[in-house]
Amino acid sequence: MGKASSKKWWKESVVYQIYPRSFKDSNGDGVGDLRGIISKLDYLKSLNIDVLWLNPIYRSPNDDNGYDISDYRAIMEEFGNMADFDALLKGVHERGIKLIMDLVVNHSSDEHEWFKRSRSSRDDAFRDYYHWWPAEKGTPPKRWSYFDLEDNAWQYDETTDAYYLHYFSVKQPDLKWENPELRRAVYDMMHFWFQKGIDGFRMDVIPFISKDTAYPELPESYKGDFIAYYANGPRLHEFLQEMNREVLSKYDIMTVGEAPGVTLEQALNFVDEDRKELDMFFHFDLLALDREPGEVFKMRKDQWKLTEFKQIHSRWDAVFKDKGWGSIFLCNHDFPRSVSRWGNDSPRYWHNSATMLQTFSLSMRGTPFFYQGEEIGMTNIRFDAIEDYRDINTLNAYHKAAHRCDDLKAFLENEKDASRDNARTPMQWDTSENAGFTNGTPWIKVNTNFKEGINVAEQDKDQNSVLNYFRKMTQVRKTHEGLIYGSYELVEEGHEEIYAYTRIWGEERYVVLLSFSENQVTFPLHTLSHKKGTLLISNDEAPQNLPDDKITLHPYQAAIYRFTPK
Ligand code: NOJ
Repeated sequence: MGKASSKKWWKESVVYQIYPRSFKDSNGDGVGDLRGIISKLDYLKSLNIDVLWLNPIYRSPNDDNGYDISDYRAIMEEFGNMADFDALLKGVHERGIKLIMDLVVNHSSDEHEWFKRSRSSRDDAFRDYYHWWPAEKGTPPKRWSYFDLEDNAWQYDETTDAYYLHYFSVKQPDLKWENPELRRAVYDMMHFWFQKGIDGFRMDVIPFISKDTAYPELPESYKGDFIAYYANGPRLHEFLQEMNREVLSKYDIMTVGEAPGVTLEQALNFVDEDRKELDMFFHFDLLALDREPGEVFKMRKDQWKLTEFKQIHSRWDAVFKDKGWGSIFLCNHDFPRSVSRWGNDSPRYWHNSATMLQTFSLSMRGTPFFYQGEEIGMTNIRFDAIEDYRDINTLNAYHKAAHRCDDLKAFLENEKDASRDNARTPMQWDTSENAGFTNGTPWIKVNTNFKEGINVAEQDKDQNSVLNYFRKMTQVRKTHEGLIYGSYELVEEGHEEIYAYTRIWGEERYVVLLSFSENQVTFPLHTLSHKKGTLLISNDEAPQNLPDDKITLHPYQAAIYRFTPK
């Protein structure tokens, strides 16, 4: 039995991600806050989730909604203060839930004291906390940036006649991990939060922290794949091992890295227990499935295929079969809503799609992560006008497209499916104004479909709602260890409409059947050698006993059967 089966609380946890800006506003300023989260803790408990992950709540000028931090030890004023945070942590722990925070240390804000000092003089003690290129060396070698209007990661700074590096916006300068003093400062900050009692970190773009500081010119072969060329640098694992030794190993906590560019082949370098680095990470293969090759934010023209979706999950499951551990997620604050993306959000299929996808995440091997609103089937907002968008990424891309005289209508069509703001519209609590999110003017528009049943209050009362299915399914996962630790094997791998797999753990055996189709589909069962299959859960009418030869599934139906072998 491999180590993947060694038991850990974070393998058995269901994680719920909160984007505080859009969760619940308590003071009427239109922005969600910590007191708002506190007011919803009993609701969160009712979901049977184990861990909350908060997107950044630190002090920030909000160029990138909190991913530009100006003080790692203070709370963003719009969100509250440290006393609110302490009360939140206490309330979370009192309910037997754990809390993990976002660790954003590839870059800080340009308004952080470290950067203010660093840019003030070439001789300042903090100069080497960031990556600088002195202008007398000429123009620095081309480096690309996600959120720069000119796609240029080097920003010229007059005060010291030098360029600084920023892989994200011009207000997010990259920290220089090669400097041991910077590393020490980051570790101290991590201890500060652990000593407060937090239970772990989600680590923002963690592979980017190491760079080749010789900044070589890009080779001829460079085709824009910047992650492979100059993001995941040579000292990455040395830094992660040091962080583990100096900080992580001292607490009973969990870590999950955001890992753009990390391949199947590199996976165990991060999470093999013997290497003592991280517990889990988020890979990006699924996120790329409906995008143009090499493009993070451009939708692919043809339809993605279920067989591709299966292959991605099966390959990643196989990597962690004996060592390490995976994560399962279908959306987050950077990507569109799962039901709109992987299911079908038209009224006819919405309920089954949303619950089928929940069944998937909660029956796979790997820790499941849900994003706020997924439990009630929130959908993409599909804004028509650029004025409705708030995300720096969409706004910058629009300006660039306008500058190039691109087809702006086509651009806006793409954003309807791709924009990060689809995930960032406020949580839909009830049928009152602004879906109960705020008494003020929300910082971003609320999706009007809160009036059509997509809200917590109404779903709470309806036994057949998406919300109450989520509660049942989280309970099913918790009470059936085989769904957590069991082996995973595809059934009828090439089937284009049904995703089916078994989970086997000693005497416990399950078959999971998931329809990704708008049609009734009959699925063959003869290759699954079984008898006495009994229904554990389904989101639609399903036979109590698993038939021998075949089963007909309704559109987007999910069903799990427990069976014994023949
Ligand atoms: C990844 C985060 O998830 C995203 O929201 C952010 O813009 C970038 N990292 C930069 O921190």
